[in-house]
Amino acid sequence: MEGGIPENQLELDAVVAMTAGSDTTASNLTFCVYFLTAHPDCARELRQELDKEFPNPAGMLDMDILQTLPYLNGVIHESLRLTTPYFMPREVPVGGIVVDDRFIPHGTDITIATNSQHMSEENFYPDPLAFRPARWIPGGLGPETKTNKNVLCSFGLGEYACIGKMLAYQEMRHTLSRLVLMYDFAFPEGFDVAGFPQGMQYTRSTYFEIPLRLKVTRRPGVTGFKTAFE
Ligand code: HEM
Repeated sequence: MEGGIPENQLELDAVVAMTAGSDTTASNLTFCVYFLTAHPDCARELRQELDKEFPNPAGMLDMDILQTLPYLNGVIHESLRLTTPYFMPREVPVGGIVVDDRFIPHGTDITIATNSQHMSEENFYPDPLAFRPARWIPGGLGPETKTNKNVLCSFGLGEYACIGKMLAYQEMRHTLSRLVLMYDFAFPEGFDVAGFPQGMQYTRSTYFEIPLRLKVTRRPGVTGFKTAFE
């Protein structure tokens, strides 16, 4: 195309937009379902919250309501917190920068160790290694609850952060709520529940070496709204 953006760049942009917008949300939803199936008490709490707002499991799910539900958002944040492996490298610009009183010269590659930040008990207390969605609700794990929301950087931070963050949250809230409202999940016999997260590989996109195996059944009494499971 003359004078415009070259076609090969448009093609590359399209690939970035498609992978960035699909397997990221899908991976986190996989983890949400995994954690909820591994922690039935958390699944029960989430279903209770959803049942209160949406008495018809197959009915419309209002996005404005979904975004206000504390436990639903806690589950999504907690899954992101525990499973974000990114190291997003950045090159220090001309003139260098000062971080914590230390000068870093131009051209140095720097990054944040996201996982360490997400697991540190200075940021998340108590039980920083455990899946506890209630930590995202003020005082949710008792008076000592510490939840440093500012360090959650699954979407990157600052002006180059993920452009699809808001859409991703909407997709995750909607899909997870529909699944929890309509289906019961259980691990099939012999599934290595503790081993599943060890099979996650990150190679710019997330790869599950061990497929998540689940027995999915329609929640008793729920009718209408056929999904791909059926
Ligand atoms: C759970 C879901 C998602 C996660 C964890 C995620 C995470 C990220 C991260 C870490 C970056 C890099 C930020 C940086 O360089 O500092 C990024 C960039 C990007 N994301 Fe997402 N993302 C998600 C969903 C989405 C969705 C749904 C879309 C689009 C519909 C999307 C589109 C993009 C695009 C186009 C970029 C590149 C932006 C740029 O280079 O300026 N992402 N995302």
